[in-house]
Amino acid sequence: ISPENEQILSASEWVAKLYHHLLRYTKDGKKGYQYFKNRGIADETIDIFQLGFAPEAKDFTAAFLNKKGFHQQILVKSGLLSQHEDNSVSDRFRGRVIFPIRNHLGKPIAFGGRALADQEPKYLNSPENELFRKGRILYNFDLAKKYIRKQNEAVLFEGYMDVISAYQAGVKNGVATLGTSLTDTQAKLLKRYVDTVTLCYDADEAGNEATYKAARILQKAGCNVKIANLRENMDPDNFINEFGGNAFHNEVIKSSLTFTSFYMRYLKKNYNLTLEGDRINYIEKVLEHLATIDSSVEREYYLKELSSNYEISMESLTQQMQVHRQKMGSVRDKQNKNSYTNKRPEFRQ
Ligand code: UTP
Ligand code: MN
Ligand code: MN
Ligand code: MN
Ligand code: MN
Repeated sequence: ISPENEQILSASEWVAKLYHHLLRYTKDGKKGYQYFKNRGIADETIDIFQLGFAPEAKDFTAAFLNKKGFHQQILVKSGLLSQHEDNSVSDRFRGRVIFPIRNHLGKPIAFGGRALADQEPKYLNSPENELFRKGRILYNFDLAKKYIRKQNEAVLFEGYMDVISAYQAGVKNGVATLGTSLTDTQAKLLKRYVDTVTLCYDADEAGNEATYKAARILQKAGCNVKIANLRENMDPDNFINEFGGNAFHNEVIKSSLTFTSFYMRYLKKNYNLTLEGDRINYIEKVLEHLATIDSSVEREYYLKELSSNYEISMESLTQQMQVHRQKMGSVRDKQNKNSYTNKRPEFRQ
C-alpha cells in the first residue's frame, strides 16, 4: 500500500469517527440521530455500523482534517473534499447521515451520505479511487463474513438500510452492492464462501430487473440462487419495519423461491396472457428455460404447474421441452467436438 493510500485510509478513519461522534453525542448531530431513530435503528446498531452525521457547514471536515495535518490533494483523492473549478475545496458530505463503507478488513474506505429529506441525489457516495472500487466491494462483507461461512449462505440486498435493518432483525449474513449492478468479481467473491445466495432486492420493477440480472451472474459464477419472497412494492427495510424481524426471517428469507419460480412470474411482464398467441409464446419461453434444468424431478414439478395452469397435457409439454433439450444437446455436442478437435488436431479427419 502506497504512502498516499495510507493517508487516505487514515483520513477516512478519522472522519468516520468524527461523524459518528457528532451523531451520537452532540447537538449538531441530533438531526441525524433522530433520523435513524425514526427509521427504527437502535443505538447499538448505530454503533456497530458506525453511522454518522456530516454537518451542513461548508468546511467543517476540511478544517478538522487540516488541523490533523493532511494534505489537501490527498483529501480530494479520498473524496472527503470536493474540488471546484476555481480549485477551491469544500466538504463533500453536508447535512447528510453517513454510512461508512468498510473494506473487507473492516477499515472505512468510502462513505455513503443520505439526504434527510426528499432531495437529489438521495444518496451521495464517495468517488472511486485506488482503494475504493464499487464493483469489487460488497457493503458489510467484513461483518457478515463469519455468518455467511457458518450458514453457507449469503443474502444480497440493494441498499445500506436493508442490510442494517436485516442485521438488527437477526439476519446477519447480508451484504449489498453499492447502487450498481452486481459484477462478476462480486459474484466470485461470494462463491468463495457459499454455495447459495438469496437475492433480496426491492420488489419493484427496477428491483425485479436487477434480480434477474444478478441471478444470471451468480449462476455463471457457480452459485445456487434463491429469490426472497418479498411482497410487491416493498423493500426489505420497509417490510421489517412494518411486519417485524420474525416475519422477515420466516416469510421472506426462509420462504424464498427457486429461480425458476421467480423467472416464470418475471417473464409474464413481456406477454399479454389473455391473448392466445401470447400465452403460447410464454409457455414456449418457459419450456426453453425448463430444458436447461438438470434435475428431472424439478423439470416435472414445473411442467405439472404449467400443465394445470394452462390446461395443456403433460405429454405435449414434455415432448416440446424434449425438443429444446435436444437442440441444446446438439449445440453442446458440437461445442465439445470443436474443442476436442481444436485440442487434438492430430485426430482431425
Ligand atoms: P433505493 O432507491 O432502493 O434506496 O436504492 P434505499 O436503499 O431503499 O434507501 P432508503 O430506504 O430510501 O434510504 C438502493 C441503493 O442504491 C444506492 C444506495 O446504495 C441505495 O441504498 N443509491 C440509491 C445511490 O447510490 N444513489 C441514489 O441516489 C439512490
Ligand atoms: Mn460508537
Ligand atoms: Mn430500489
Ligand atoms: Mn430500496
Ligand atoms: Mn429503503
